[in-house]
Amino acid sequence: MDRKLPPLFFALSVMALAMILAVAWRSSHPGWKNYQAEYLRLEAVGEPNAAAKAAVLSTPETVQQILLPGLQRVDRCTTCHMGVEDPTMKSAQEPYTYHSGLQPHSPAKFGCTICHGGQGLATDKQGAHGDVEFWSEPLLPKEYIRASCGRCHKEGEVPGVPELTEGRQLFETRGCRGCHKLNGVGGSIGPDLTEEGAQRRNPRWLEQHFLKPASVSPNSAMPNFNFTREQARALSYYMLSLTNEQMGAYYASERLIPSPAYGKQLFVEKNCIACHSIDGVGAKNGVNLAGVTSRHSLSWLDEQLVNPSLVSPGTDMPIYDLDANSRKALVGFLATATADDARAILAGKPKGLSPEEAAIEAGHQDFIRFGCVGCHGTELQGGVPNPNSQSGQVPSLLHLSDDYTQPEVLHIVREGKMPPVANPKLPAPPLYMPQWKNMMSEEDINRIVQFLWSKQPKKTESW
Ligand code: HEC
Ligand code: HEC
Ligand code: HEC
Ligand code: HEC
Ligand code: HEC
Ligand code: HEC
Repeated sequence: MDRKLPPLFFALSVMALAMILAVAWRSSHPGWKNYQAEYLRLEAVGEPNAAAKAAVLSTPETVQQILLPGLQRVDRCTTCHMGVEDPTMKSAQEPYTYHSGLQPHSPAKFGCTICHGGQGLATDKQGAHGDVEFWSEPLLPKEYIRASCGRCHKEGEVPGVPELTEGRQLFETRGCRGCHKLNGVGGSIGPDLTEEGAQRRNPRWLEQHFLKPASVSPNSAMPNFNFTREQARALSYYMLSLTNEQMGAYYASERLIPSPAYGKQLFVEKNCIACHSIDGVGAKNGVNLAGVTSRHSLSWLDEQLVNPSLVSPGTDMPIYDLDANSRKALVGFLATATADDARAILAGKPKGLSPEEAAIEAGHQDFIRFGCVGCHGTELQGGVPNPNSQSGQVPSLLHLSDDYTQPEVLHIVREGKMPPVANPKLPAPPLYMPQWKNMMSEEDINRIVQFLWSKQPKKTESW
């Protein structure tokens, strides 16, 4: 008896198996058409009658795509995420859900990937979410999405995202520029950070690196700043926002959101309190600005700030040349301003500094701004480990006058200094004193040395 299967039967069983596998694969990896069909089914549920339901269900399936020349991208995410602009889909599950809180960033103008990452052109889930090897921008985890706000809103405060402001502040005050360049300014011991957010380090890697650099980057020469978890998170946000990408003028138009906090800053800078009071605090007999936004319309106030004498002929109030966002910010501040704000502004008035003190303070600011604090510490205490240098660490600058004269220190700052090596057989010490003469003016260098001298023990003899 022939035990062999008939060839036709064999071929049929192989085909059947292949089909079963294909169906199983597809139901575990539904394509965009499946998502659109399901979305239409959900939409149809809400329709009042059979005809309307049928009309919805017969909508042809098409790839949705948003062209964004100003952002140099094309996003097809709405092919599956069809409900982002439909509030009735609020309680649907992903990918059908309504996207709350998006305005004024409408999908038609912003797409999705500028905030979320992912691969705009892909129409399969894995590809679109960037879970694929060749794509360097996977979706940002939920807790880091807001870092992207800083790609466009680069100055001032972004409402609801205090991390960006704090991260920027830490960057500018902790001396990161001593070792890192950002937009052309800074040292070269660590990598340039101008596009740190575009190369997409995993956000959790960044955060861990700030908590303890050597834990993710063995033998890192970057100091452990003992940041708190919140500070590490804030710095990670700031890093992720640094992409340096070219955008159309519209997208860059709101670098600075006209927030009340910015309005307060302008109110201080322009010294409005010199002629005004808020609830009795401020200029004696000054025009009271408390409640001014309920006395006047927004457009009236805007015109008052554009040209006071058109609105109030004969007024003493100067013309300030404020742009529209600045006026909006000022009015935003006035809407909430209280007597306490006025007190704080008056208390914060800079005390008069003598020219000498002012020069020392300017040197102090330069010491921070150029990143000296990154290696020598905010209190000049030194102590950052520097393996295989003779002292094993970056020196303190508190006793310079014991070893050097001022001209010698000026020379060190201009020319830099390699630390003496402890053991010539081991790798050279990673940290050295950079040469600053090409990075800052002679005036800045002088001011910094004046500042350093002001911190020396008083016995110092003059030179
Ligand atoms: C092929 C359909 C499809 C496409 C295209 C697609 N998504 Fe999704 N997305 C889903 C599904 C399904 C979910 C629900 C969670 C899951 O199954 O992983 C989801 C969930 C998400 C989530 C929630 C977080 C998460 O990972 O669960 C975000 C954010 C997201 N998508 C963003 C995007 C962006 C941005 C794009 C475009 C670059 C995009 N999606 C394109 C199907 C898609
Ligand atoms: C202006 C920035 C911005 C744009 C543009 C944007 N989103 Fe979002 N999206 C966010 C933020 C911020 C959140 C997180 C909200 C939260 O924390 O609850 C979010 C949340 C989501 C979620 C839920 C994530 C989760 O894990 O629960 C999905 C899905 C999503 N967005 C998809 C999209 C899609 C699709 C688009 C394009 C149509 C888009 N987003 C455009 C900022 C944006
Ligand atoms: C691609 C650049 C871009 C990104 C990313 C972006 N924005 Fe915006 N944002 C804009 C622009 C442009 C406007 C002005 C929109 C308009 O008025 O047409 C704006 C307006 C705003 C406003 C309103 C300001 C006003 O005039 O009152 C707020 C608030 C805001 N953005 C917050 C955010 C937050 C929060 C995020 C992150 C979730 C974010 N933005 C991400 C570009 C961006
Ligand atoms: C004393 C020099 C020094 C100072 C100061 C310093 N760094 Fe670093 N940093 C380094 C070195 C060296 C590396 C490369 C080794 C590593 O990954 O840790 C590095 C790496 C990094 C990286 C990872 C870059 C990448 O993707 O590979 C980031 C981000 C970073 N630093 C940010 C900062 C910030 C923010 C500050 C200020 C709070 C700072 N650094 C201060 C030396 C420094
Ligand atoms: C040199 C004095 C002076 C300065 C400085 C000044 N103002 Fe005024 N401002 C006035 C006077 C006077 C009026 C009353 C209008 C009039 O002359 O009738 C006025 C009126 C106003 C009003 C309308 C108040 C009302 O209830 O009608 C607003 C709003 C206002 N100023 C805001 C500002 C802001 C904001 C600044 C700072 C950017 C500022 N002013 C700086 C003198 C000044
Ligand atoms: C990348 C880390 C780094 C940065 C940034 C840095 N220094 Fe230094 N600096 C060092 C090291 C290391 C030495 C020790 C050299 C040696 O051992 O001879 C040093 C030495 C000095 C000395 C001589 C101290 C002594 O006791 O020999 C002065 C003064 C000094 N730095 C000032 C500055 C000033 C001012 C700045 C900012 C403009 C600055 N440093 C930025 C690493 C740094």
